[in-house]
Amino acid sequence: MFKDIEKILFDEKTLLNAIKQLGKKISKDYKNKNLFLLSVLKGSIVFMSDLMRNISTHCIIDFMCASSYEGGFKTKGVVKITKDIDISVCGYDLLIVEDILDSGLTLSYILSFLKNKKPKSIKICTLFDKPSRRQADVEADYKCFEIPDEFIVGYGFDYKEKYRNLPFIGVLKKDVYELDVLH
Ligand code: IMP
Ligand code: MG
Repeated sequence: MFKDIEKILFDEKTLLNAIKQLGKKISKDYKNKNLFLLSVLKGSIVFMSDLMRNISTHCIIDFMCASSYEGGFKTKGVVKITKDIDISVCGYDLLIVEDILDSGLTLSYILSFLKNKKPKSIKICTLFDKPSRRQADVEADYKCFEIPDEFIVGYGFDYKEKYRNLPFIGVLKKDVYELDVLH
C-alpha cells in the first residue's frame, strides 16, 4: 500500500495538532449549547474520532452516509443518502463533520436534507477545503486546512475504497489511477 504513495502532504502529528486547536475552539463556541456532532461517513471517521476526543463540552454523536463519488476519481454530481441519522436532531445545535469540502454538491444536498429535520442550528466543520473546485454555494464554518486541487488518500480518504487506513494524508502515484482517468 505505501509504495502507491507519491508524497505525504500531512503527517499524523500535523493533523492532530490542527484538530486539537479546532476542538478547543468548538468546545468554547458550544459551551452553553446542545452540541450534536454528525459525522458524514465514511471519509470523516478518522477525523471525527480525533475531533470528538478533543472536545471538552457535552455532545452527542451520530452518523449518516452520503456518497457522490461512488468510489471513483471525479464526482458524478449525484448524491445518495445511503444511511440516515438514528437520533432526532430537533432542538440540537448540529455540527456536520465532513472530511472535505470539494465541489460542495454533497454538502449542499445534506444541508437541505437536514434543515427539514428542524435542528436548532446547523454548522459545517471540515478537515479539508478545496475552494478552487467549488460548484455549490456552500462554505465551512470551521476548517483545518485549505488544499489545492490534488486528489488525496489516507486518514479516512479513499481511492476506490482503499487507502483509508493510512495514518497520514498522501497523494497517489499517477500510475495508480492513470488507467481510470483515460476511461
Ligand atoms: P463534493 O460533493 O465534491 O464536495 O465531495 C464530496 C466527497 O468527495 C467528499 O466527502 C469525499 O468523500 C470525496 N472527495 C473529494 N475530494 C477527495 C479527495 O481528494 N480524495 C478522496 N475523496 C475525495
Ligand atoms: Mg465524504
